Amino acid sequence: MENLHDHRKVYDKFELIEDQVKQNPIEQFRNWLLEAQETPSVSEANAMSVSTLESDGCPRTRMVLLKSYTWEGFVFYTNYDSRKGKALVDNPKACLHFFWPGLERQIIIKAILERVADNLSDGYFSSRPRGSQLGAWVSPQSMEIPNKDFLENRLLEIEKEWEGKEVGRPTNWGGFLAKPYEIEFWQGRPNRLHDRILYTLTNDFDWKISRLAP
Ligand SMILES: Cc1cc2nc3c(=O)[nH]c(=O)nc-3n(C[C@H](O)[C@H](O)[C@H](O)COP(=O)(O)O)c2cc1C
Repeated sequence: MENLHDHRKVYDKFELIEDQVKQNPIEQFRNWLLEAQETPSVSEANAMSVSTLESDGCPRTRMVLLKSYTWEGFVFYTNYDSRKGKALVDNPKACLHFFWPGLERQIIIKAILERVADNLSDGYFSSRPRGSQLGAWVSPQSMEIPNKDFLENRLLEIEKEWEGKEVGRPTNWGGFLAKPYEIEFWQGRPNRLHDRILYTLTNDFDWKISRLAP
């Protein structure tokens, strides 16, 4: 067994100060995402984890790709019948998380999720490569399947079904919009005295900015 007691890194690249952050967390997010996208060591800057609460009371986390964001919130696409899709029917709250080690930054977003309008899902689905479109039909995401051949055989069937036609969107595949009510920006600092700036949505739909102890 390996012990990792001495594996630690000094964080000292940037700092996060109240009078330099944006008043609106989506704008602050935009700045950080743009910087992450421009940082060569950060691959897939739009990859984020999504944690949902399962019926056994345990949160479950998986990665997805952020596909768009607006003043309203953050959009990703998935199978509505997947484990996350089912968990969100019972409890529409989720926690999104970005970690960009190259920038020593994380963002934690608590949000209420809703399905995006069908026309938005249609629009994004039609922009995907044909292989990904077929994949959405092939995979009963999160279900137990007998073996790998099951997918290969289903792909052959689905390819035949859609041969010569534009692939339509399965009705159980689409986007979720995560509407944030709390967003924390975390910037690593020396001596573990990290900067943590928390935005909390107020009753009058303004954002309160506060600092948390690291
Ligand atoms: C970097 C990365 C990006 C991913 N993006 C997506 C995505 O956008 N949508 C999606 O449904 N699954 C995506 N996945 C797969 C999910 O992590 C997960 O395996 C799948 O959605 C099933 O999750 P569930 O069974 O918990 O619902 C991605 C995985 C990785 C590692």
